[in-house]
Amino acid sequence: MQNIDPTTTLAWGKLQQHFEEIKEIKMQQLFSEEPQRFNDFSIHWEDFLVDFSKNRITRKTQELLLELAEECGLEEAINSYFGGESINRTENRPVLHTALRAKDSECVRVDGENVIPEVFEVKAKMEAFSNAIISGNTKGYSGKKFTDIVNIGIGGSDLGPAMVTEALGFYKNHLNIHYISNVDGDHVHEILKPLNPETTLFVIVSKTFTTQETLSNAITSRKWFLDSAPQEAVQKHFVAVSSNVEKVQDFGISKGNIFPMWEWVGGRFSLWSAVGLSVSLAVGFTKFNELLEGAHKMDVHFKKEPFIKNIPVQLALLSVWYNNFFKAESEVVIPYSQYLQKLPSYLQQAIMESNGKSIDRNGNPVGYETGNIIWGEPGTNSQHAFFQLIHQGTKLIPADFIGFKKSLFGDKGHHDKLMANYFAQTEALLKGKSQDEVKKELSKQGLKLEQIETLLPFKVFEGNKPTTSLLIEKLTPGSIGKLIAMYEHKIFVQGVIWNIFSYDQWGVELGKQLASKILKEINASDVSNHDDSTNNLLNSYLKK
Ligand code: F6P
Repeated sequence: MQNIDPTTTLAWGKLQQHFEEIKEIKMQQLFSEEPQRFNDFSIHWEDFLVDFSKNRITRKTQELLLELAEECGLEEAINSYFGGESINRTENRPVLHTALRAKDSECVRVDGENVIPEVFEVKAKMEAFSNAIISGNTKGYSGKKFTDIVNIGIGGSDLGPAMVTEALGFYKNHLNIHYISNVDGDHVHEILKPLNPETTLFVIVSKTFTTQETLSNAITSRKWFLDSAPQEAVQKHFVAVSSNVEKVQDFGISKGNIFPMWEWVGGRFSLWSAVGLSVSLAVGFTKFNELLEGAHKMDVHFKKEPFIKNIPVQLALLSVWYNNFFKAESEVVIPYSQYLQKLPSYLQQAIMESNGKSIDRNGNPVGYETGNIIWGEPGTNSQHAFFQLIHQGTKLIPADFIGFKKSLFGDKGHHDKLMANYFAQTEALLKGKSQDEVKKELSKQGLKLEQIETLLPFKVFEGNKPTTSLLIEKLTPGSIGKLIAMYEHKIFVQGVIWNIFSYDQWGVELGKQLASKILKEINASDVSNHDDSTNNLLNSYLKK
Protein backbone atom coordinates (compact mmCIF):
# COMPACT_ATOMS: atom_id res chain seq x y z
CA MET A 1 0.00 0.00 0.00
CA GLN A 2 1.47 3.33 -1.05
CA ASN A 3 1.57 6.45 1.10
CA ILE A 4 0.15 9.19 -1.09
CA ASP A 5 -0.87 12.58 0.26
CA PRO A 6 -4.20 13.01 -1.57
CA THR A 7 -3.77 16.78 -1.76
CA THR A 8 -0.68 16.34 -3.95
CA THR A 9 -2.57 14.43 -6.63
CA LEU A 10 -3.66 16.02 -9.89
CA ALA A 11 -7.22 14.93 -9.20
CA TRP A 12 -7.31 16.84 -5.90
CA GLY A 13 -6.42 20.11 -7.64
CA LYS A 14 -9.02 19.44 -10.30
CA LEU A 15 -11.62 18.62 -7.66
CA GLN A 16 -10.84 21.86 -5.86
CA GLN A 17 -11.42 23.84 -9.02
CA HIS A 18 -14.50 21.83 -9.92
CA PHE A 19 -15.88 22.41 -6.41
CA GLU A 20 -15.60 26.18 -6.89
CA GLU A 21 -17.59 25.83 -10.11
CA ILE A 22 -20.42 23.71 -8.75
CA LYS A 23 -20.62 24.46 -5.04
CA GLU A 24 -23.80 26.51 -5.47
CA ILE A 25 -25.41 24.17 -7.98
CA LYS A 26 -28.95 23.05 -7.19
CA MET A 27 -29.65 19.33 -7.36
CA GLN A 28 -33.16 20.04 -8.60
CA GLN A 29 -31.68 21.82 -11.57
CA LEU A 30 -29.46 18.79 -12.23
CA PHE A 31 -32.49 16.50 -12.11
CA SER A 32 -34.32 18.63 -14.66
CA GLU A 33 -31.30 18.83 -16.96
CA GLU A 34 -30.33 15.16 -16.72
CA PRO A 35 -33.20 12.74 -17.41
CA GLN A 36 -30.76 9.86 -16.88
CA ARG A 37 -29.61 11.10 -13.49
CA PHE A 38 -31.17 8.29 -11.43
CA ASN A 39 -29.72 5.64 -13.75
CA ASP A 40 -26.32 7.29 -13.75
CA PHE A 41 -26.11 7.60 -10.00
CA SER A 42 -27.68 4.44 -8.65
CA ILE A 43 -26.51 0.88 -8.29
CA HIS A 44 -28.76 -2.18 -8.35
CA TRP A 45 -26.95 -5.09 -6.77
CA GLU A 46 -28.55 -8.29 -5.44
CA ASP A 47 -31.32 -7.16 -3.05
CA PHE A 48 -29.83 -3.64 -2.72
CA LEU A 49 -30.78 -0.49 -4.59
CA VAL A 50 -28.36 2.30 -3.74
CA ASP A 51 -29.53 5.65 -5.03
CA PHE A 52 -26.98 8.44 -4.70
CA SER A 53 -28.52 10.70 -7.33
CA LYS A 54 -29.73 13.13 -4.60
CA ASN A 55 -26.15 14.27 -3.99
CA ARG A 56 -24.38 17.45 -5.04
CA ILE A 57 -22.41 15.77 -7.78
CA THR A 58 -22.25 15.72 -11.56
CA ARG A 59 -20.71 13.21 -13.95
CA LYS A 60 -17.55 15.28 -13.79
CA THR A 61 -17.45 15.09 -9.99
CA GLN A 62 -17.72 11.33 -10.23
CA GLU A 63 -14.98 11.12 -12.85
CA LEU A 64 -12.62 13.27 -10.80
CA LEU A 65 -13.31 11.33 -7.61
CA LEU A 66 -12.55 8.12 -9.48
CA GLU A 67 -9.32 9.69 -10.73
CA LEU A 68 -8.48 10.52 -7.13
CA ALA A 69 -9.05 6.89 -6.11
CA GLU A 70 -6.80 5.74 -8.91
CA GLU A 71 -4.03 8.20 -8.09
CA CYS A 72 -4.18 7.16 -4.44
CA GLY A 73 -3.58 3.53 -5.46
CA LEU A 74 -6.96 2.19 -4.34
CA GLU A 75 -6.86 -0.91 -6.52
CA GLU A 76 -3.47 -1.97 -5.21
CA ALA A 77 -4.60 -1.20 -1.66
CA ILE A 78 -7.66 -3.46 -2.03
CA ASN A 79 -5.39 -6.30 -3.14
CA SER A 80 -3.12 -5.71 -0.13
CA TYR A 81 -6.15 -5.71 2.20
CA PHE A 82 -7.66 -8.96 0.96
CA GLY A 83 -4.24 -10.52 0.35
CA GLY A 84 -3.28 -10.41 4.02
CA GLU A 85 -0.46 -7.85 3.84
CA SER A 86 0.30 -6.15 7.15
CA ILE A 87 -1.61 -3.00 6.26
CA ASN A 88 -2.08 -2.24 9.96
CA ARG A 89 1.55 -1.16 9.99
CA THR A 90 1.66 0.52 13.39
CA GLU A 91 0.66 -2.79 14.96
CA ASN A 92 2.37 -4.87 12.28
CA ARG A 93 -0.75 -6.92 11.49
CA PRO A 94 -2.84 -7.84 8.50
CA VAL A 95 -6.51 -6.84 8.54
CA LEU A 96 -8.44 -9.95 7.68
CA HIS A 97 -11.98 -9.83 8.99
CA THR A 98 -12.87 -10.72 5.39
CA ALA A 99 -11.23 -14.15 5.93
CA LEU A 100 -13.84 -14.87 8.63
CA ARG A 101 -16.56 -14.98 5.99
CA ALA A 102 -14.52 -16.52 3.16
CA LYS A 103 -15.51 -19.87 1.61
CA ASP A 104 -13.77 -22.99 2.91
CA SER A 105 -12.23 -23.51 -0.54
CA GLU A 106 -10.35 -20.18 -0.31
CA CYS A 107 -6.80 -19.74 0.85
CA VAL A 108 -5.80 -16.71 2.89
CA ARG A 109 -2.25 -16.77 4.18
CA VAL A 110 -0.89 -15.13 7.32
CA ASP A 111 2.86 -15.66 7.76
CA GLY A 112 2.69 -18.34 5.07
CA GLU A 113 -0.09 -20.34 6.80
CA ASN A 114 -3.58 -20.69 5.32
CA VAL A 115 -5.88 -19.46 8.11
CA ILE A 116 -9.16 -20.67 6.57
CA PRO A 117 -9.11 -24.21 8.09
CA GLU A 118 -8.67 -22.68 11.56
CA VAL A 119 -11.55 -20.25 10.92
CA PHE A 120 -13.80 -23.18 10.01
CA GLU A 121 -12.68 -25.16 13.05
CA VAL A 122 -13.85 -22.31 15.31
CA LYS A 123 -17.09 -22.00 13.35
CA ALA A 124 -17.73 -25.73 13.88
CA LYS A 125 -17.13 -25.27 17.61
CA MET A 126 -19.55 -22.32 17.67
CA GLU A 127 -22.16 -24.36 15.83
CA ALA A 128 -21.92 -27.35 18.15
CA PHE A 129 -21.98 -25.12 21.24
CA SER A 130 -24.93 -23.02 20.00
CA ASN A 131 -26.92 -26.15 19.10
CA ALA A 132 -26.29 -27.73 22.48
CA ILE A 133 -27.35 -24.63 24.43
CA ILE A 134 -30.39 -23.79 22.27
CA SER A 135 -31.68 -27.38 22.29
CA GLY A 136 -31.15 -27.66 26.03
CA ASN A 137 -28.89 -30.69 25.65
CA THR A 138 -26.21 -28.84 27.57
CA LYS A 139 -27.63 -27.82 30.93
CA GLY A 140 -26.60 -25.69 33.87
CA TYR A 141 -25.01 -27.13 37.04
CA SER A 142 -28.34 -27.97 38.65
CA GLY A 143 -29.69 -29.79 35.59
CA LYS A 144 -31.86 -26.95 34.30
CA LYS A 145 -31.79 -25.67 30.72
CA PHE A 146 -30.19 -22.31 30.04
CA THR A 147 -32.64 -19.45 29.60
CA ASP A 148 -30.36 -16.39 29.69
CA ILE A 149 -27.08 -15.51 28.02
CA VAL A 150 -24.99 -12.63 29.35
CA ASN A 151 -22.39 -11.24 26.97
CA ILE A 152 -19.69 -9.31 28.82
CA GLY A 153 -17.46 -7.15 26.61
CA ILE A 154 -16.96 -3.56 25.50
CA GLY A 155 -16.24 -1.69 22.25
CA GLY A 156 -16.00 -4.18 19.40
CA SER A 157 -16.63 -7.03 21.83
CA ASP A 158 -20.05 -5.56 22.60
CA LEU A 159 -21.30 -3.10 19.98
CA GLY A 160 -21.17 -5.48 17.00
CA PRO A 161 -22.86 -8.50 18.60
CA ALA A 162 -25.34 -6.29 20.49
CA MET A 163 -26.29 -4.43 17.32
CA VAL A 164 -26.72 -7.62 15.29
CA THR A 165 -28.65 -9.42 18.04
CA GLU A 166 -31.10 -6.54 18.03
CA ALA A 167 -31.13 -6.26 14.23
CA LEU A 168 -32.04 -9.96 13.95
CA GLY A 169 -34.53 -9.84 16.82
CA PHE A 170 -37.29 -11.11 14.52
CA TYR A 171 -35.35 -14.35 13.96
CA LYS A 172 -34.52 -14.92 17.62
CA ASN A 173 -35.20 -18.08 19.62
CA HIS A 174 -36.29 -18.46 23.25
CA LEU A 175 -32.95 -17.47 24.83
CA ASN A 176 -32.81 -14.04 26.46
CA ILE A 177 -29.61 -12.26 25.49
CA HIS A 178 -28.17 -9.52 27.70
CA TYR A 179 -25.17 -7.29 27.16
CA ILE A 180 -23.03 -5.87 29.94
CA SER A 181 -20.36 -3.41 28.85
CA ASN A 182 -20.00 -0.36 31.09
CA VAL A 183 -17.74 -0.49 34.14
CA ASP A 184 -20.59 1.34 35.85
CA GLY A 185 -21.53 -1.16 38.56
CA ASP A 186 -25.14 -0.15 38.20
CA HIS A 187 -25.09 -1.66 34.72
CA VAL A 188 -23.90 -5.13 35.75
CA HIS A 189 -26.05 -5.27 38.89
CA GLU A 190 -29.16 -4.09 37.03
CA ILE A 191 -28.72 -6.79 34.37
CA LEU A 192 -28.00 -9.53 36.93
CA LYS A 193 -30.85 -8.53 39.25
CA PRO A 194 -33.63 -10.62 37.67
CA LEU A 195 -31.43 -13.54 36.56
CA ASN A 196 -31.24 -17.03 37.99
CA PRO A 197 -27.62 -18.29 38.27
CA GLU A 198 -28.78 -21.86 37.60
CA THR A 199 -29.99 -20.96 34.10
CA THR A 200 -27.56 -18.18 33.13
CA LEU A 201 -24.61 -18.61 30.80
CA PHE A 202 -21.85 -15.97 30.68
CA VAL A 203 -19.92 -15.29 27.49
CA ILE A 204 -16.87 -13.16 28.30
CA VAL A 205 -15.60 -11.49 25.17
CA SER A 206 -12.28 -9.70 25.12
CA LYS A 207 -9.66 -9.99 22.43
CA THR A 208 -6.91 -8.94 24.84
CA PHE A 209 -8.54 -10.13 28.07
CA THR A 210 -6.92 -7.13 29.76
CA THR A 211 -9.74 -4.62 29.35
CA GLN A 212 -10.60 -3.09 32.72
CA GLU A 213 -14.34 -2.85 32.11
CA THR A 214 -14.73 -6.43 30.91
CA LEU A 215 -12.59 -7.99 33.59
CA SER A 216 -14.33 -6.04 36.35
CA ASN A 217 -17.75 -7.08 35.06
CA ALA A 218 -16.61 -10.70 34.64
CA ILE A 219 -15.27 -10.83 38.21
CA THR A 220 -18.45 -9.26 39.62
CA SER A 221 -20.61 -11.70 37.64
CA ARG A 222 -18.57 -14.69 38.79
CA LYS A 223 -18.90 -13.53 42.40
CA TRP A 224 -22.67 -13.11 41.95
CA PHE A 225 -22.80 -16.61 40.46
CA LEU A 226 -20.72 -18.18 43.24
CA ASP A 227 -22.94 -16.63 45.90
CA SER A 228 -25.28 -19.54 45.22
CA ALA A 229 -23.45 -21.97 42.92
CA PRO A 230 -20.57 -24.32 43.74
CA GLN A 231 -17.06 -23.45 42.50
CA GLU A 232 -16.90 -26.32 39.97
CA ALA A 233 -20.06 -24.98 38.26
CA VAL A 234 -18.01 -22.08 36.82
CA GLN A 235 -16.86 -24.38 34.00
CA LYS A 236 -20.46 -25.00 32.95
CA HIS A 237 -21.57 -21.37 33.12
CA PHE A 238 -18.60 -19.31 31.87
CA VAL A 239 -17.08 -19.40 28.40
CA ALA A 240 -14.70 -16.89 26.84
CA VAL A 241 -13.87 -15.50 23.42
CA SER A 242 -10.32 -14.23 23.32
CA SER A 243 -6.92 -14.40 21.67
CA ASN A 244 -5.24 -14.39 25.09
CA VAL A 245 -5.65 -18.01 26.24
CA GLU A 246 -3.28 -17.61 29.18
CA LYS A 247 -5.19 -14.71 30.74
CA VAL A 248 -8.53 -16.49 30.25
CA GLN A 249 -7.18 -19.55 32.04
CA ASP A 250 -5.86 -17.32 34.85
CA PHE A 251 -9.44 -16.10 35.24
CA GLY A 252 -10.52 -19.70 35.78
CA ILE A 253 -12.03 -20.69 32.45
CA SER A 254 -10.66 -23.96 31.07
CA LYS A 255 -9.12 -24.25 27.60
CA GLY A 256 -12.09 -26.22 26.23
CA ASN A 257 -14.37 -23.29 27.05
CA ILE A 258 -12.32 -20.78 25.07
CA PHE A 259 -13.34 -19.72 21.57
CA PRO A 260 -10.19 -18.37 19.96
CA MET A 261 -9.81 -15.23 17.87
CA TRP A 262 -6.80 -13.89 16.12
CA GLU A 263 -4.50 -10.88 16.10
CA TRP A 264 -5.41 -10.24 12.46
CA VAL A 265 -9.02 -9.45 13.41
CA GLY A 266 -9.53 -5.92 14.71
CA GLY A 267 -11.91 -5.56 17.67
CA ARG A 268 -14.37 -3.33 15.83
CA PHE A 269 -14.49 -5.73 12.87
CA SER A 270 -14.73 -8.90 14.94
CA LEU A 271 -18.44 -9.69 15.06
CA TRP A 272 -17.89 -12.25 12.29
CA SER A 273 -15.59 -14.30 14.52
CA ALA A 274 -16.50 -16.11 17.75
CA VAL A 275 -17.16 -12.59 19.09
CA GLY A 276 -20.52 -13.22 17.41
CA LEU A 277 -21.17 -16.23 19.66
CA SER A 278 -24.04 -14.47 21.43
CA VAL A 279 -25.61 -13.75 18.03
CA SER A 280 -25.27 -17.41 17.10
CA LEU A 281 -26.90 -18.34 20.43
CA ALA A 282 -29.69 -15.84 19.81
CA VAL A 283 -30.65 -16.87 16.28
CA GLY A 284 -28.90 -20.21 15.77
CA PHE A 285 -25.71 -20.89 13.87
CA THR A 286 -27.46 -21.29 10.50
CA LYS A 287 -28.71 -17.71 10.60
CA PHE A 288 -25.34 -16.50 11.91
CA ASN A 289 -23.75 -18.18 8.92
CA GLU A 290 -26.22 -16.45 6.59
CA LEU A 291 -24.97 -13.16 8.03
CA LEU A 292 -21.41 -14.21 7.10
CA GLU A 293 -22.52 -15.26 3.63
CA GLY A 294 -24.12 -11.86 3.05
CA ALA A 295 -20.91 -10.12 4.13
CA HIS A 296 -18.90 -12.40 1.84
CA LYS A 297 -21.07 -11.40 -1.12
CA MET A 298 -20.32 -7.75 -0.38
CA ASP A 299 -16.60 -8.62 -0.14
CA VAL A 300 -16.70 -10.16 -3.62
CA HIS A 301 -18.64 -7.16 -4.98
CA PHE A 302 -16.11 -4.75 -3.46
CA LYS A 303 -13.12 -6.73 -4.72
CA LYS A 304 -14.36 -7.35 -8.26
CA GLU A 305 -16.79 -4.65 -9.32
CA PRO A 306 -15.41 -1.73 -11.37
CA PHE A 307 -15.22 1.36 -9.17
CA ILE A 308 -18.01 3.14 -11.05
CA LYS A 309 -20.51 0.47 -9.98
CA ASN A 310 -18.84 -0.40 -6.69
CA ILE A 311 -21.10 0.50 -3.75
CA PRO A 312 -18.49 0.96 -0.97
CA VAL A 313 -16.17 2.86 -3.33
CA GLN A 314 -18.89 5.26 -4.47
CA LEU A 315 -20.12 5.88 -0.92
CA ALA A 316 -16.59 6.51 0.32
CA LEU A 317 -15.78 8.93 -2.49
CA LEU A 318 -19.00 10.85 -1.85
CA SER A 319 -18.03 11.11 1.78
CA VAL A 320 -14.57 12.44 0.84
CA TRP A 321 -16.26 14.97 -1.46
CA TYR A 322 -18.40 16.37 1.34
CA ASN A 323 -15.76 16.09 4.05
CA ASN A 324 -12.85 17.64 2.19
CA PHE A 325 -14.46 20.01 -0.27
CA PHE A 326 -17.80 21.06 1.26
CA LYS A 327 -16.15 20.75 4.71
CA ALA A 328 -19.14 18.87 6.08
CA GLU A 329 -18.21 17.75 9.58
CA SER A 330 -20.65 14.95 10.16
CA GLU A 331 -22.76 12.34 8.45
CA VAL A 332 -26.03 11.00 9.72
CA VAL A 333 -27.35 7.45 9.32
CA ILE A 334 -31.12 7.02 9.54
CA PRO A 335 -32.36 3.43 9.43
CA TYR A 336 -36.10 3.19 8.83
CA SER A 337 -36.29 0.07 10.96
CA GLN A 338 -36.51 -0.05 14.72
CA TYR A 339 -34.48 -3.28 14.58
CA LEU A 340 -31.52 -1.18 13.45
CA GLN A 341 -31.62 1.28 16.31
CA LYS A 342 -28.13 0.31 17.42
CA LEU A 343 -26.59 0.64 13.95
CA PRO A 344 -25.49 4.28 14.39
CA SER A 345 -23.66 3.60 17.65
CA TYR A 346 -22.02 0.52 16.13
CA LEU A 347 -20.91 2.67 13.19
CA GLN A 348 -19.58 5.31 15.54
CA GLN A 349 -16.92 2.92 16.76
CA ALA A 350 -16.29 1.38 13.34
CA ILE A 351 -15.92 4.74 11.61
CA MET A 352 -14.56 7.10 14.26
CA GLU A 353 -12.11 4.68 15.91
CA SER A 354 -10.83 3.80 12.43
CA ASN A 355 -10.56 7.12 10.68
CA GLY A 356 -10.29 9.59 13.55
CA LYS A 357 -6.58 10.12 12.84
CA SER A 358 -4.48 13.22 12.23
CA ILE A 359 -1.12 11.65 11.35
CA ASP A 360 -0.65 10.32 7.84
CA ARG A 361 0.95 7.04 6.83
CA ASN A 362 4.34 8.77 6.58
CA GLY A 363 4.10 9.86 10.20
CA ASN A 364 3.38 13.51 9.37
CA PRO A 365 0.43 15.62 10.49
CA VAL A 366 -2.24 15.69 7.81
CA GLY A 367 -3.02 19.03 6.21
CA TYR A 368 -6.64 18.16 5.46
CA GLU A 369 -9.72 16.82 7.18
CA THR A 370 -10.03 13.08 7.91
CA GLY A 371 -12.63 11.02 9.80
CA ASN A 372 -16.14 12.36 9.92
CA ILE A 373 -18.39 12.43 12.93
CA ILE A 374 -21.14 9.88 12.61
CA TRP A 375 -24.49 9.90 14.34
CA GLY A 376 -28.07 8.87 13.85
CA GLU A 377 -31.26 7.28 15.14
CA PRO A 378 -34.04 5.37 13.46
CA GLY A 379 -36.68 7.08 11.40
CA THR A 380 -39.38 8.10 12.05
CA ASN A 381 -38.37 8.84 15.67
CA SER A 382 -35.46 11.01 14.57
CA GLN A 383 -37.78 13.13 12.43
CA HIS A 384 -39.40 14.29 15.67
CA ALA A 385 -36.03 14.92 17.31
CA PHE A 386 -33.18 16.31 15.22
CA PHE A 387 -34.49 16.60 11.65
CA GLN A 388 -35.25 20.28 12.27
CA LEU A 389 -31.51 20.94 12.24
CA ILE A 390 -30.93 18.93 9.07
CA HIS A 391 -33.72 20.78 7.24
CA GLN A 392 -33.20 24.32 8.48
CA GLY A 393 -29.93 24.44 10.43
CA THR A 394 -26.70 26.03 9.24
CA LYS A 395 -24.74 22.82 8.75
CA LEU A 396 -24.50 20.57 5.74
CA ILE A 397 -25.16 17.01 6.88
CA PRO A 398 -25.08 14.29 4.23
CA ALA A 399 -27.52 11.56 5.24
CA ASP A 400 -27.84 7.84 4.57
CA PHE A 401 -31.43 6.66 4.53
CA ILE A 402 -31.79 2.90 4.96
CA GLY A 403 -35.16 1.32 4.25
CA PHE A 404 -36.64 -2.09 3.49
CA LYS A 405 -39.29 -2.90 0.91
CA LYS A 406 -40.95 -5.51 3.11
CA SER A 407 -41.71 -5.43 6.80
CA LEU A 408 -41.05 -8.51 8.87
CA PHE A 409 -44.44 -8.86 10.54
CA GLY A 410 -46.11 -7.95 7.26
CA ASP A 411 -48.21 -5.11 8.65
CA LYS A 412 -48.64 -3.27 5.37
CA GLY A 413 -50.47 -0.30 6.86
CA HIS A 414 -47.64 0.51 9.23
CA HIS A 415 -44.94 -0.23 6.70
CA ASP A 416 -46.45 2.03 4.05
CA LYS A 417 -46.60 4.86 6.58
CA LEU A 418 -43.01 4.24 7.63
CA MET A 419 -41.76 4.15 4.05
CA ALA A 420 -43.85 7.15 3.00
CA ASN A 421 -41.80 9.07 5.55
CA TYR A 422 -38.56 7.56 4.26
CA PHE A 423 -39.34 8.74 0.71
CA ALA A 424 -40.82 12.07 1.79
CA GLN A 425 -37.85 13.11 3.85
CA THR A 426 -35.28 12.68 1.08
CA GLU A 427 -37.59 14.50 -1.31
CA ALA A 428 -38.13 17.32 1.17
CA LEU A 429 -34.39 17.61 1.78
CA LEU A 430 -33.83 17.81 -1.96
CA LYS A 431 -36.60 20.23 -2.88
CA GLY A 432 -37.03 22.36 0.16
CA LYS A 433 -39.85 24.91 0.02
CA SER A 434 -39.53 28.20 -1.84
CA GLN A 435 -40.85 31.63 -0.79
CA ASP A 436 -43.53 31.38 -3.48
CA GLU A 437 -44.72 28.02 -2.24
CA VAL A 438 -44.85 29.27 1.34
CA LYS A 439 -46.77 32.39 0.33
CA LYS A 440 -49.32 30.35 -1.60
CA GLU A 441 -49.73 27.90 1.24
CA LEU A 442 -50.24 30.62 3.87
CA SER A 443 -52.65 32.62 1.80
CA LYS A 444 -54.67 29.45 1.19
CA GLN A 445 -54.86 29.10 4.95
CA GLY A 446 -56.40 32.59 5.03
CA LEU A 447 -53.49 34.53 6.55
CA LYS A 448 -53.28 38.27 5.91
CA LEU A 449 -50.44 39.66 3.78
CA GLU A 450 -48.74 41.18 6.80
CA GLN A 451 -48.83 37.90 8.72
CA ILE A 452 -47.48 36.07 5.68
CA GLU A 453 -44.53 38.48 5.36
CA THR A 454 -43.68 38.04 9.05
CA LEU A 455 -43.78 34.27 8.93
CA LEU A 456 -42.21 33.82 5.52
CA PRO A 457 -38.47 33.54 6.38
CA PHE A 458 -39.16 30.93 9.06
CA LYS A 459 -41.23 28.72 6.81
CA VAL A 460 -38.84 28.58 3.87
CA PHE A 461 -36.76 25.42 3.39
CA GLU A 462 -33.57 25.94 1.45
CA GLY A 463 -33.45 22.30 0.24
CA ASN A 464 -30.47 21.00 -1.73
CA LYS A 465 -29.50 18.78 1.22
CA PRO A 466 -27.72 15.60 0.11
CA THR A 467 -29.08 12.15 0.84
CA THR A 468 -28.22 8.62 -0.25
CA SER A 469 -31.05 6.09 -0.19
CA LEU A 470 -30.44 2.41 0.41
CA LEU A 471 -33.55 0.46 -0.42
CA ILE A 472 -33.18 -3.19 0.54
CA GLU A 473 -35.69 -5.99 -0.16
CA LYS A 474 -36.05 -7.27 3.39
CA LEU A 475 -34.21 -7.30 6.70
CA THR A 476 -32.60 -10.75 6.76
CA PRO A 477 -29.34 -12.05 8.22
CA GLY A 478 -27.92 -11.94 4.69
CA SER A 479 -28.90 -8.33 3.99
CA ILE A 480 -27.59 -7.19 7.38
CA GLY A 481 -24.28 -8.94 6.63
CA LYS A 482 -24.07 -7.06 3.33
CA LEU A 483 -24.94 -3.74 4.94
CA ILE A 484 -22.29 -3.98 7.67
CA ALA A 485 -19.61 -5.16 5.22
CA MET A 486 -20.55 -2.25 2.94
CA TYR A 487 -19.73 0.24 5.71
CA GLU A 488 -16.54 -1.66 6.62
CA HIS A 489 -15.25 -1.30 3.08
CA LYS A 490 -16.33 2.32 2.88
CA ILE A 491 -14.15 2.96 5.96
CA PHE A 492 -11.22 1.21 4.26
CA VAL A 493 -11.51 3.28 1.06
CA GLN A 494 -11.66 6.52 3.01
CA GLY A 495 -8.57 5.56 5.00
CA VAL A 496 -6.71 4.79 1.77
CA ILE A 497 -7.62 8.17 0.25
CA TRP A 498 -6.79 10.08 3.45
CA ASN A 499 -3.45 8.26 3.70
CA ILE A 500 -4.03 7.26 7.31
CA PHE A 501 -3.87 3.99 9.22
CA SER A 502 -7.48 2.96 9.78
CA TYR A 503 -6.82 -0.14 11.85
CA ASP A 504 -5.03 1.02 14.98
CA GLN A 505 -6.59 2.98 17.87
CA TRP A 506 -3.77 4.57 19.85
CA GLY A 507 -6.08 7.45 20.66
CA VAL A 508 -7.93 5.42 23.29
CA GLU A 509 -4.79 4.63 25.30
CA LEU A 510 -4.02 7.93 27.07
CA GLY A 511 -7.35 8.06 28.89
CA LYS A 512 -6.96 4.42 29.98
CA GLN A 513 -3.48 5.11 31.41
CA LEU A 514 -4.61 8.17 33.32
CA ALA A 515 -7.68 6.37 34.66
CA SER A 516 -5.54 3.62 36.15
CA LYS A 517 -3.23 6.19 37.78
CA ILE A 518 -6.22 8.12 39.16
CA LEU A 519 -7.85 4.93 40.46
CA LYS A 520 -4.74 4.28 42.56
CA GLU A 521 -4.97 7.81 43.98
CA ILE A 522 -8.68 7.32 44.74
CA ASN A 523 -7.93 4.05 46.51
CA ALA A 524 -5.19 5.73 48.55
CA SER A 525 -7.25 8.90 49.08
CA ASP A 526 -4.18 10.81 47.98
CA VAL A 527 -4.64 13.27 45.13
CA SER A 528 -1.57 14.89 43.67
CA ASN A 529 0.01 16.42 40.64
CA HIS A 530 -2.96 17.19 38.44
CA ASP A 531 -4.10 20.43 36.94
CA ASP A 532 -6.10 22.59 39.32
CA SER A 533 -9.43 21.58 37.83
CA THR A 534 -8.79 17.84 38.10
CA ASN A 535 -7.36 18.19 41.64
CA ASN A 536 -10.45 20.01 42.83
CA LEU A 537 -12.85 17.63 41.14
CA LEU A 538 -11.06 14.62 42.63
CA ASN A 539 -10.94 16.12 46.11
CA SER A 540 -14.63 16.90 45.91
CA TYR A 541 -15.32 13.27 44.86
CA LEU A 542 -13.28 11.93 47.77
CA LYS A 543 -15.22 14.06 50.25
CA LYS A 544 -18.57 12.54 49.14
O1 F6P B 1 -11.46 0.98 23.00
C1 F6P B 1 -10.33 0.34 22.52
C2 F6P B 1 -10.55 -1.11 22.24
O2 F6P B 1 -9.30 -1.68 22.07
C3 F6P B 1 -11.43 -1.39 21.03
O3 F6P B 1 -10.79 -1.25 19.82
C4 F6P B 1 -11.91 -2.76 21.32
O4 F6P B 1 -12.99 -3.10 20.53
C5 F6P B 1 -12.24 -2.63 22.79
O5 F6P B 1 -11.22 -1.79 23.31
C6 F6P B 1 -12.33 -3.91 23.57
O6 F6P B 1 -11.12 -4.61 23.56
P1 F6P B 1 -11.03 -6.12 24.02
O7 F6P B 1 -11.85 -6.94 23.10
O8 F6P B 1 -9.58 -6.47 23.93
O9 F6P B 1 -11.54 -6.21 25.43
